[in-house]
Amino acid sequence: MGSYSISSLPDYFKQYRKSIKNPKKFWNRIATENFEWYQHWNKVVEFDMEEAKITWFKNAKLNITKNCIDRHLATRGNKTAIIWEPNDPKEKSQHITYNELHGRVCKMANVLTDLGIQKGDRVCIYLPMIPELAITMLACAKMGAVHSVIFAGFSASAVASRVNDCGAKLIITSDGSYRGNKVLELKPIVDEAVEKCSSVEKVLVVKRTGGKITLKKNRDVILDDYYPKASKDFVTKIMDAEDPFFILYTSGSTGRPKGMLHTCAGYMVYVAYTFKNIFNYEENDIFWCSADIGWITGHSYTLYGPLLNGATTVMYEGTPTHPAPDRFWKIIEKHKINQFYTAPTAIRALAKENYEWVKKRNLSSLKVIGSVGEPINDEAWHWYNDHVGKRKCPIVDTWWQTETGGILISPIPFVTPTKPTYATLPLPGIQPVLMDEKRNEIMGNQAEGNLCIRFPWPSIARTIWGDHQRYKETYFTAFPGKYFTGDGALRDEVGYYRITGRVDDVVIVSGHNLGTAPIEDSINLHPAIAESAVVGYPHDVKGNALYGFVILKEMGESRDKKNLEKEINQVIAETIGPIAKLDKIQFVPGLPKTRSGKIMRRILRKIASGDFDNFGDTSTLLNPEIVEEIKNARIEN
Ligand code: WTA
Repeated sequence: MGSYSISSLPDYFKQYRKSIKNPKKFWNRIATENFEWYQHWNKVVEFDMEEAKITWFKNAKLNITKNCIDRHLATRGNKTAIIWEPNDPKEKSQHITYNELHGRVCKMANVLTDLGIQKGDRVCIYLPMIPELAITMLACAKMGAVHSVIFAGFSASAVASRVNDCGAKLIITSDGSYRGNKVLELKPIVDEAVEKCSSVEKVLVVKRTGGKITLKKNRDVILDDYYPKASKDFVTKIMDAEDPFFILYTSGSTGRPKGMLHTCAGYMVYVAYTFKNIFNYEENDIFWCSADIGWITGHSYTLYGPLLNGATTVMYEGTPTHPAPDRFWKIIEKHKINQFYTAPTAIRALAKENYEWVKKRNLSSLKVIGSVGEPINDEAWHWYNDHVGKRKCPIVDTWWQTETGGILISPIPFVTPTKPTYATLPLPGIQPVLMDEKRNEIMGNQAEGNLCIRFPWPSIARTIWGDHQRYKETYFTAFPGKYFTGDGALRDEVGYYRITGRVDDVVIVSGHNLGTAPIEDSINLHPAIAESAVVGYPHDVKGNALYGFVILKEMGESRDKKNLEKEINQVIAETIGPIAKLDKIQFVPGLPKTRSGKIMRRILRKIASGDFDNFGDTSTLLNPEIVEEIKNARIEN
């Protein structure tokens, strides 16, 4: 294996310059030196941004599992590939070596083959965070089947729409899953979903909870009935660079989810490269990304990125607070985690707990800590830095999307400096640009605009499954010739990027554009406040006014609410300006969130505007009951 690490700040600048000046040469070297191929490519990259047609490593032949598993066997066969930490701390964790992983993946590939799955077929995976989730994904990759993981918290209707969209032949699930104190039944959800899915021929069931399940004849199969007898030999399928690798659904501005399609070679190269550099991974480090594999973060940085680098990666089945609010910190202590990667929403939730929970655990193994999924506010950044990283672990605030496959903007630890709340600098190969409403590129520093990317990178999604037109319209038409991210960003005086949030969350108040994310950041500075969400609602004079939903920390509960409201607006006025003051503030016990922790602003906007009629599908929310609670309190006021 060659080396693709970025070793110093001058090296970063050098690599970056090279990658922009000659992207073909840059990626050609990285791809040649660091991966095993059956056949070399005859063109590094080819693209047409108008038609949204992108090809990387044309005609190369490969299989990602050769690079994730097989090539490590000679030197790392007995090294742990996956540490699996169960929900119940009393249950034993599993340490799966690369040798074992190889055997288990081959067996699973044979089971899937026996059930009629072939190269190109789609397989939906609806599993909790158990080893079989990773093993099935790798088995699909090995046999050339296209996996589509559906987060095991989605409702039957959400499962059905995804299965139907990709036309999956098989869905794998488990009897149930453990989440904290709860046992959730998954098989009945799949049963209900599959009723509406004519493409599904087989339902494969993994036993996890031992719950009672009913099996439909000729359709349902228990993994244990096949797996023990399955052979440990499997002939890896040779894949073309641009063959479909996986589909992962993400929500769009309309209700219909978008099946983002990633292909084989480009995804592999970019994810491996970014994992190594962004987490400063060194041999024998233990890496933990707490994201569920059902999301892109779990695909790229719990599974594929680490294995491509021969790393040890941790998979945790449970919740951050089970059985107590120190579970995350206990896992770090137990497995001596070196890199920890999580979401701001988890950080804020844990920061709300008594500080003793984190203080009493030994976190000295940590070297790098990371954040992903939404802008991290100043207070959460500092709490993470002070109490988890102990001010000696660089925080990598990594900006990217399901569509981008891998991280595009992030600090590189010990190489480029961090700056609180800033994702900072683009990775080599990534050319961010800021665009104004008139589609002009905003030049120079100290600027703010719509974030676009000028040149394709290897792991950009190639299409929306079955709807290339929608892909083109969503990402390549707003700013012709560029990929539009849908995010706003600002660039500071030295060129660091700070993601300000989705551009669709902008509210225009008295003719002024106000981002809700910076207002929330400012509110969250108040020591009595845990979290907040700001939305716009119609106002007679100003066009729009601002409505804040605010969660108090325990210490805030006993405070005079009128005074608190005044203080909140004072903080906003002082950090942003009086224009950004809130017209209404509602103190709430929680905020409606998607399973990945994003606030559902669409619902809050309706509540704020007094429109209680149709909240749309709330079944995919993490906490659907909160919607009624907030609504009723709003009506009473
Ligand atoms: C947001 C998650 C600020 C952003 C990997 C993006 C972020 C969307 C960050 C993609 C970050 C992700 N700072 N915002 N570090 N990371 N986002 O597809 O709005 O679930 O467009 O991918 O999350 O969410 P997705």
